[in-house]
Amino acid sequence: MGHRIVLLGFGNVGQEFARLLLERRAELRREQGLEARVVAILTGRHGRVENAKGVDLRKALRLAGAGRSLEPCGRAIREETVPFLRRVRADIVVELTPLRIAERQAAVDHIRAALSSGKHVITANKGPVVYHYAALRALARRNHAGFRYEGTVMDGAPVFNLFQETLRGAHVESFEGILNSTSNFILSEIEAGRSYEAGVEAARRMGFLEADPSMDLEGWDATAKACLLANVLMGGRLRPETVPRQGILGISASRVQEARALGRRVKQVARGWREDGGVRASVTVEEVPLDHPLAGVDGTSNGLLARTDMLKEIFISERNPGLRQTAFAVYSDLIAIHEGRLLP
Ligand SMILES: NC(=O)c1ccc[n+]([C@@H]2O[C@H](COP(=O)([O-])OP(=O)(O)OC[C@H]3O[C@@H](n4cnc5c(N)ncnc54)[C@H](OP(=O)(O)O)[C@@H]3O)[C@@H](O)[C@H]2O)c1
Repeated sequence: MGHRIVLLGFGNVGQEFARLLLERRAELRREQGLEARVVAILTGRHGRVENAKGVDLRKALRLAGAGRSLEPCGRAIREETVPFLRRVRADIVVELTPLRIAERQAAVDHIRAALSSGKHVITANKGPVVYHYAALRALARRNHAGFRYEGTVMDGAPVFNLFQETLRGAHVESFEGILNSTSNFILSEIEAGRSYEAGVEAARRMGFLEADPSMDLEGWDATAKACLLANVLMGGRLRPETVPRQGILGISASRVQEARALGRRVKQVARGWREDGGVRASVTVEEVPLDHPLAGVDGTSNGLLARTDMLKEIFISERNPGLRQTAFAVYSDLIAIHEGRLLP
């Protein structure tokens, strides 16, 4: 079956997803009977183009790699994004624009426009899902459209696929996790003897730091993920602004070293739990004992310990994920939609 895809955002993740599509094109056709054709790419400042015959992804990647506009790849899109998404002849919109912490944001309008015109949506952007999960899921259902978001938390590790599909029927009672790779990487650098500033600089050099560093360093990314897990897996209605939040901004190297000398490790821990009939979440920077499963989660790795009523404790960890793993999450959502698994 042919799927016409619109890419909203062609940055790190969008480009890696395009590379994956190119590499796996023959396998997708052979093994899944899936033909994927990108019919439009929209960016913020690097052009917005459509090409019903299919955008040449190699050319788009070359242009993006050189920091140039995508305009040579197709016809320029003149109208605003919402009317474009409503009228474009496409099956799937892949939303990969930057994270914003705000209830009202363009990404939500874009997802709504896609779903209400019967298009499936795949996103790795936490913003729309954390604020509007229930409404977007209901909208998708009403329109018989897919809505999948595996890449929003823990990159390629199966979190929503695991709890919402494989472990359907098991209830998540609480969780704790290391969910922000950048903070964990900087803490590991400090443990290895570097200063906070050197750790931040290393993260920036290696491309881990979000375009807006406060998202990582002030704990917003981890808090958005904690709320997202609490809202999606536990039925919460949390907003990141109202959740207790600690980032690693300016953390002293001596605190990290002293904890190490006492057999503990400083970690940023995101939690969700049930209390007084509701769901709560928090993000704290704390000393974790060495025998705790999260103590061994180093560098850019992430980990999630969930307590469920059926399997008791289940721990998943992804070692040093990179862009390929996030792109894989989007790719696995594409296959799911192709197979008719519209909602996780
Ligand atoms: N990077 C990761 O490892 C990772 C992992 C998991 C989840 N995510 C999430 O995935 C999303 C994308 O991340 P990224 O690293 O690829 O970000 P990025 O490199 O900053 O790319 C963002 C893309 O979105 C485009 N864009 C901005 N505003 C737009 C708009 N209004 N309409 C259309 N396109 C717009 C940008 O275009 P211009 O450059 O022209 O402005 C750029 O192409 C984010 O929500 C992020 O939190 C990322």
